[in-house]
Amino acid sequence: MILAEGMLKPGALKGKNIILTGGGTGLGRSMGEYFLELGANLVITSRKLDVLEETAQEMMTAKGGKVIPLACDVREIDQVEAMWKAANEKLGQIHVVLNNAAGNFISPTERLSINAFNTVLDIVLKGTSQVTLTAGKDWIAKKQSGTFLNIVTTYAWTGSGYVVPSAAAKAGVLALTRSLAVEWAKYGIRSNAIAPGPFPTEGAWSRLLPGDLVKKFDPAKKVPVGRVGEHQELANLAAYLVSDYSSYVNGEVMTIDGGEWLKGAGEFNNLDQIPEEMWDMMEASRGKKP
Ligand code: HXC
Ligand code: NAP
Repeated sequence: MILAEGMLKPGALKGKNIILTGGGTGLGRSMGEYFLELGANLVITSRKLDVLEETAQEMMTAKGGKVIPLACDVREIDQVEAMWKAANEKLGQIHVVLNNAAGNFISPTERLSINAFNTVLDIVLKGTSQVTLTAGKDWIAKKQSGTFLNIVTTYAWTGSGYVVPSAAAKAGVLALTRSLAVEWAKYGIRSNAIAPGPFPTEGAWSRLLPGDLVKKFDPAKKVPVGRVGEHQELANLAAYLVSDYSSYVNGEVMTIDGGEWLKGAGEFNNLDQIPEEMWDMMEASRGKKP
């Protein structure tokens, strides 16, 4: 099936050293596997070293290349700086940073404790900012070019109830991406983002559609193309955006959601619930005076 096929030519990421936050699970792992297949070396980071070590081993067995697992809570600047130092020591110059780590859960906002709100803000906005600033400062000091790719969401620009800390934080990451795309271009640093629609992962599904909610709110039903995303489809887009083929793409946020957010936005899009017979009746009665 073409949806599960790699798109870039073999060796497209040869020689690229890539740091992938949240790289041990879900979409981070899928993107990492494809980067490896294309010739990159990886540092995968998150809080759980045991998960990272197992994933790294499985990735190298399946795809070859080098995968270094490094524990790093992106909320802790000391850990971020230590991770950056270790990554440079183990792989040499880092060419790409993919900010993918995130935390999220659904809740009416008024039920959230301040710690719950801040936990999500801290992982998503503070964490991404800390990784970005650490990498960017070092690249600029060493006169090295680099590429950032940040994973946001489509509600980064529309907002969304029930995931308010995540929406606020992802909107901040989007602004960070666009701002630095302009400010740091003079140093040879590009910044782009991807806004995925629903892609099934254990991490997202267990927190956003817990229990029976997955049956009640089938995400595929909200997507005009009628399905959720395949991980390889996202990996293809991410590989392009971190490769040199996208050298002229800077400050862009690419949506990959089968048209989901636009369906929610268009005033009359829910008229797709009107059956054909009703359209027939309306057509037949057009122009007929009562
Ligand atoms: C309300 C909750 C909660 C929930 C935790 N809290 N879960 N409040 N509803 N479901 C509260 C806790 O009570 C606590 O507040 C505070 O949040 C911190 O909780 P901890 O468990 O101590 O935090 P921590 O161990 O740091 O874990 C962070 C986490 C967790 C975000 C809560 O879910 C996590 O580790 N997530 C990482 C992976 C993840 O979320 N993946 C999904 C990304 S999906 P108090 O006041 O009690 O101390 C995504 C997709 C978006 O972003 C778009 C989809 C289409
Ligand atoms: P996931 O598997 O839960 O990925 C989140 C990752 O972040 C985990 O590997 C987690 O690892 C890591 N992480 C969480 N807190 C961290 C912290 N404090 N420091 C470092 N790492 C941390 O979920 P996913 O669906 O693949 O999500 C990946 C990205 O895609 C996220 O940015 C998410 O917002 C975005 N996204 C997903 C969807 C979707 O439908 N799946 C849609 C839109 C956007 P540890 O627990 O080991 O730390």
